[in-house]
Amino acid sequence: MAQPTTESAKPRRSLKRAPPAKFKEGVSDPRGLPPACYTSAAFHEREIETIFRKEWVCIGRVEDVAKPGDYVSIDIVGEPLVMVRDLAGTLRVHSRICRHRSMILVEGSGNARSFNCPYHAWVYGLDGRLAGAPEMEYTPGFDRAACSLPGPKVEVWEGFVFVNFDSKAKPLAPRVEKLARFLGNWHMGEMVSVRSFDFDVGWNWKVMIDNYIEAYHHLGAHRLSLEPVMPTRLVRVEDLPGPFTIVHMPHVEGTEVSGFYTTGEEQAKLPPIPTLTEDERRRPSLIHMFPAHLMSTYPDRMEYYLVLPRGPDGLTIRKVMCVPKASLDRPDFERAMKVVTDQYLKFRVEDIGVNDGVMRGLRARYAAPPHLCHLERPLLEFSEWLLRRTGPPPAR
Ligand code: FES
Ligand SMILES: [Fe+2]
Repeated sequence: MAQPTTESAKPRRSLKRAPPAKFKEGVSDPRGLPPACYTSAAFHEREIETIFRKEWVCIGRVEDVAKPGDYVSIDIVGEPLVMVRDLAGTLRVHSRICRHRSMILVEGSGNARSFNCPYHAWVYGLDGRLAGAPEMEYTPGFDRAACSLPGPKVEVWEGFVFVNFDSKAKPLAPRVEKLARFLGNWHMGEMVSVRSFDFDVGWNWKVMIDNYIEAYHHLGAHRLSLEPVMPTRLVRVEDLPGPFTIVHMPHVEGTEVSGFYTTGEEQAKLPPIPTLTEDERRRPSLIHMFPAHLMSTYPDRMEYYLVLPRGPDGLTIRKVMCVPKASLDRPDFERAMKVVTDQYLKFRVEDIGVNDGVMRGLRARYAAPPHLCHLERPLLEFSEWLLRRTGPPPAR
């Protein structure tokens, strides 16, 4: 990979190193999860039952279904769902399994006035009600009104659409109130999605989470790309308690740019978000809302990932870039997004390389629970949260 160059001819000044993150009082020998938590099919089933069917999981953004009739299909741990804006303008999430013989009603995304089953032509309104079921009037006891499409609970938080399969689940917002306040200056709820990237990988979903929530690996995996501009010595782990972790990655002075690093002085940039403080402008941050919602904030945008497990060692990832609406009107918007996108596609290769290697290593006989660096404290916090729900890790 080409050596990045900095935008500015100004010499970079190193900032003072950040103080080390502190482990909780009483923690001795902090370790990550045992390898079997990443490889065991039985443990994965437990995660589905105790986490993905009980906790709030993000499926996208409100602007994904901006107009009445817009719909997007998405599968969450084997549950085919459709997010749709009905004709009255209400955002809904339904199961997209026909109530007749369980045919998948719809795939992909688009705009529709109804969902028509391709098998025996039952028709559902976008509000989920069964509107037509040919020949079924001759079936004794058949009640059309009882055949609406079921669906999970839905909550919109900062423009993200979250679902929860547990009908008794408590609302999401109060649990992450501190985080919402912390992120307030980004006004994420008013942003719009402008780029998205889907890729399938052969990792356990937690390999993705672990990789995302620490910047210790700038020293190794991103030695030539991110480390020169967001060095490990400046990384700070935020002390804000909640079902989330936050890691800050301040820039070396003189490298505050649209993306991670620039490739020339003439590069286009998106404007910084005007409501950010000086400190917020200077440091990208990595945010993990448990269990699987990943966001990163930059001076000019926000990015998020959907982490969609397809089994213990299969994962679909969707990365989405979001910007304030006003940025769309910039004449150099397309060029600026190309800079950001090109940078992302370059350093993504580095993360894919280490995550592939880790997943292979975790299956090895000699794999063991990792000793964690202070910069990996988010891994410890997440693993404790996870095991409180799943119960103890499996024996090998
Ligand atoms: S399975 Fe949908 S109409 Fe028969
Ligand atoms: Fe990385």
